[in-house]
Amino acid sequence: MSTSVQERLIRPAQNIAGSLRLPGDKSISHRYGLLGAFAEGTSHFTNFSTGADCASTLACMAQLGAKVVKTGADSIEVTGVGGRVTPCSEPLDCGNSGSTMRMISGLLAAQEGRFTLVGDESLSRRPMERIRKPLQQMGARLTLTEGHAPLTMDGGKLTAIDYTTPVPSAQVKSCVLLAGLQTEGTTFVREAVRTRDHSELALKAFGASVTRGVEAGLETIGLSGPQSLQAIEASVPGDISSAAFFLCAAALFPGSNLVLDSLGLNPTRASLLDVLAGLGLNLAVLDLQEKNSELVGMVRASAPAEGLGSAEIKGAVAAQIIDELPVLAAIAPFTSGGIRIRDAKELRVKESDRIALVVKNLRAMGAEVEEFEDGLDVPGGQTLHGATIDSAHDHRIAMAFAVAALRASSETLIQGAEVAAISFPEFFDLLDQLAVR
Ligand code: S3P
Repeated sequence: MSTSVQERLIRPAQNIAGSLRLPGDKSISHRYGLLGAFAEGTSHFTNFSTGADCASTLACMAQLGAKVVKTGADSIEVTGVGGRVTPCSEPLDCGNSGSTMRMISGLLAAQEGRFTLVGDESLSRRPMERIRKPLQQMGARLTLTEGHAPLTMDGGKLTAIDYTTPVPSAQVKSCVLLAGLQTEGTTFVREAVRTRDHSELALKAFGASVTRGVEAGLETIGLSGPQSLQAIEASVPGDISSAAFFLCAAALFPGSNLVLDSLGLNPTRASLLDVLAGLGLNLAVLDLQEKNSELVGMVRASAPAEGLGSAEIKGAVAAQIIDELPVLAAIAPFTSGGIRIRDAKELRVKESDRIALVVKNLRAMGAEVEEFEDGLDVPGGQTLHGATIDSAHDHRIAMAFAVAALRASSETLIQGAEVAAISFPEFFDLLDQLAVR
């Protein structure tokens, strides 16, 4: 097999061992970057995500008048626009990042002027109607291209709304809250499943007041606008969605020993740990601390001698670990009882159709798998061989199959491996460092 910059050859491993600190959480970095760029004053962030997605958010905010200075490999200084962005006639390029496009749309909906947001091929296929609806209800005019980007926003004075999200989405919730932040009256967002609450916590850290409660069975977030934000200093917790790849790798090898330092353990993000513990992975959380309202701790993981059991993932848990489902599905053949995933239809509208791609790549490695509209069934007790993996420019697919490849009987070639840099540029080097061969 020949390798190129875009390809990565993964050799089977015998174990996973080592300790590391993960780069900053992508979701939190987006929010800190965006809010810092909108706030008054200069914010300082360390362990900021090194991924291309967060760089897209920073570049858009710089185009809108914020000053972003890189002060180290993973530290930045952001001077905000103090609540008023600079008009810009050039399109804002959100790259591959749905978070960038959906959250900046919310921010701009309340700003006077016309803004155009564009994305790459994958982002230009993803549904944007879900943000157009609430923003239009608030009074913004948002024009889409057949339901997708490019999108044009005619922003201005808005009216507060009470909005129940039709699909669980932290990006949509955040979009509405960012518009509400600048709008007179109280904006409510209600959701049937409690999605990641980084926006609420970040808004609080920047000095805004946000309420949270459960009303009529719905998670209810309230924000009375307008409110201004003040700069902060923060260290971004390690990314648990990036850690997921190494935790799942550790789960594959009895006797593994993995230690992850300063990992983000926000309860709306940490359900993966419950699922892995349910599968049999031994997990210990040490040194739990709260930083800017986010929980951070050290996680120690080792797989049991008897291997992994089985799991059924559905309902709220499926929504909460939506980003981790590809790697869980990829290790499922190596469990004894298999993994069954349902209620995960949203996987089909991520950076790729992640259900179809997981099925395709598992089959390429010789696995038996059954596909459903909203999930998949992967039986356990299977042996996989190496294969050529089509990552379809989706970072989480490339990384998920690099993990499965560690237990395959032969080498695996990950095509388009450079796409890992969207969220986790260090991934392949760190995997090499942890894999015992
Ligand atoms: C994210 C929310 C989720 C997740 C994405 C990041 C966020 O997307 O899949 O990777 O930072 O708010 P949805 O809001 O589309 O569910």
